[in-house]
Amino acid sequence: MAMKINSSSIEQLLREDDPLVIRKLYEQADAVRAANVGNDVHLRALLEMSNVCRRQCTYCGIAAYNAHLTRYRMSEEEIIASAHHAAQLGFHTLVLQSGEDTFYSTSMIIRIVRTIKEQTGLAITLSLGERTPEELAEWKEAGANRYLLRFETSDINLFQRIHPPAGFSSYEDYCAQLSPEDACMAHTFTTEVPRMSLLRTLRELDYEVGSGVMVGIPGQTYATLARDICTFQQLDLDMIGVGPYIPHPDTPLGKQMLAAQTSQTAKTTQAQDATSADEAPNSFTCAGVNQVPNTADMTLKVIALTRLVCPKSNIPATTALGVLGEEASRIQAFECGANVIMPNVTPLAYRSLYSIYEGKDTVSETEDMLAALTQQIINAGRTVGTTEGKSRAFAARHKE
Ligand code: 5AD
Repeated sequence: MAMKINSSSIEQLLREDDPLVIRKLYEQADAVRAANVGNDVHLRALLEMSNVCRRQCTYCGIAAYNAHLTRYRMSEEEIIASAHHAAQLGFHTLVLQSGEDTFYSTSMIIRIVRTIKEQTGLAITLSLGERTPEELAEWKEAGANRYLLRFETSDINLFQRIHPPAGFSSYEDYCAQLSPEDACMAHTFTTEVPRMSLLRTLRELDYEVGSGVMVGIPGQTYATLARDICTFQQLDLDMIGVGPYIPHPDTPLGKQMLAAQTSQTAKTTQAQDATSADEAPNSFTCAGVNQVPNTADMTLKVIALTRLVCPKSNIPATTALGVLGEEASRIQAFECGANVIMPNVTPLAYRSLYSIYEGKDTVSETEDMLAALTQQIINAGRTVGTTEGKSRAFAARHKE
């Protein structure tokens, strides 16, 4: 049974800074995790098969506008070889992730999915961005088991600000080319984040459906984040990934945030020089006291609250959490409700090029890291999953 907490009690807990209350929240989430999904930590091999993307998301380092990035695409042969490698390393699931890269046609993905399933038996998770309902149906038919598509935020205004529609660099540019009537309709009738309908399509197609949000994206308020967590429950998700937003210097949003941080530091230094004032420096905020900070601690809280409202879902300890809070935070996530980790198996030649945020390639998840990770999981009192780790939420739905 999901816990009866509502969006205002979630918001209150998100704002909570009493360490004792926070510790209790973590303990509760850990108990709910143990009772509902057990002690196993499931390992998913993450293969970042292309960093080409047609979208212009303002936070993401592999967005189409980033001319500083060397682009790569793995061939079908390279992808299949990596799948074999993942199977040899003992993984039971392969996650195929890429930018929104239509170079991989419907039929190419069908071939890749079929071949991997036939030759390795791995469960397959696709994470290829917003694709058409028709191709999602064909890939499911070919044997794909799961699909990941984070909705990033349930606030339509924030969503539009950070996700210009395909082919446009801002939502304003998109509206500018509409007729006045259509522009008016777009503003009046768009109330839901467009990815929600794709998530419902994925559910209808019987995928295990994964989604999630970034924590601390500029403009994200506590109220919105609380609603995001309630939305996880409403969507009855099988997987929920939450990671801190990490500014990337080659993105509009990252530039804005890093510049604001610099000017804040300068102001604080000036104030201290001038008066030695003991006023606390303000941390960078976009929405004043309502702005959620992009910290590891806030992310851990979101993971714990997510576990309380979605007891049977699979919840990963995300890479971004490991980058921002260092490896310790990623492991701490296992004490706050997480039960999945996605080690990176992308060939090293490509790995540093999949730079959706800064510092990502400093997480060294090479094969050599697997033994260390296994040990850390055991040290945390957990076991490494030996099955494909299907979501219990999915299993529960299929019993009905
Ligand atoms: N910081 C943190 N996470 C990011 N993502 C994309 N860019 C960033 C960033 N700058 C996340 C998005 C996306 C997932 C694959 O990576 O949530 O869905």
